[in-house]
Amino acid sequence: MNILFIGDIFGSAGRKIVREHIGHVRAARNVDLTVVNVENAAGGFGVTPQIAEDIFDLGADVLTTGNHVWDKRELMDYMNSAGEESKDRARRVIRPANLQPGLPGYGVFEGTTQSGLDYAVMQLQGRVFMTAIDDPFRTADKLLASIKSKVVVVDFHAEATSEKVAMGWYLDGRVTAVLGTHTHVPTADERILPNGTAFQTDVGMSGPYDSIIGVEKDLVLHKFLTGMPGKFEAAKGNPKMCGALVTCDPASGRASAIQRIMFGE
Ligand SMILES: [Fe+2]
Repeated sequence: MNILFIGDIFGSAGRKIVREHIGHVRAARNVDLTVVNVENAAGGFGVTPQIAEDIFDLGADVLTTGNHVWDKRELMDYMNSAGEESKDRARRVIRPANLQPGLPGYGVFEGTTQSGLDYAVMQLQGRVFMTAIDDPFRTADKLLASIKSKVVVVDFHAEATSEKVAMGWYLDGRVTAVLGTHTHVPTADERILPNGTAFQTDVGMSGPYDSIIGVEKDLVLHKFLTGMPGKFEAAKGNPKMCGALVTCDPASGRASAIQRIMFGE
């Protein structure tokens, strides 16, 4: 079973480069399951239902988000429109599972690919250098107890490399892949951990790399140099689609290969 995971789409430049490359990668690699992180797809801040629909149209099966999930309020209504057992697109946009209880949406989606393979996608968010939320490690334990599929892809949306590496080891042998998102900078540490979990600290953003993690560099530099507030705008230059390709045994969920990918213009 081949899984394509695409890192954080940032703004229109990110959407455009993903539109350009997602199709040929899916075809060339016989991809069964496509997961895309979209938390910055709408101008760098959140995702709208329309953008989510557009990315589903490109072949995505599940969309993940992150700390920017509530930036576009209309996404709450979209998420609320699908019940827990639904397989609708609105149900296939997930958010970190360990946010405060009672919020819209879900942190896990379980489905079956068009090729007939069962899978689950889970999203967790880190707590180091981020807002205080529930324990992502214990949340993973609790959710794994009720997930039926052997194939489980985890998007760990976190800032600190230490917390992300820790999650990889914590879940090694219990999930198919732990793939990091949020920092927007791809790391060169992709590997299969000893018990069969594919891991990469951060798969990198799908967006403009002539930027400061997606934002126009002059605006961010101004903030660093002056400490003054300013409006952040999504950059456009040098877009790349980043992600990871994971191969696994659908019967056991064990990963056998992970490859880091980066496609430019
Ligand atoms: Fe984020």
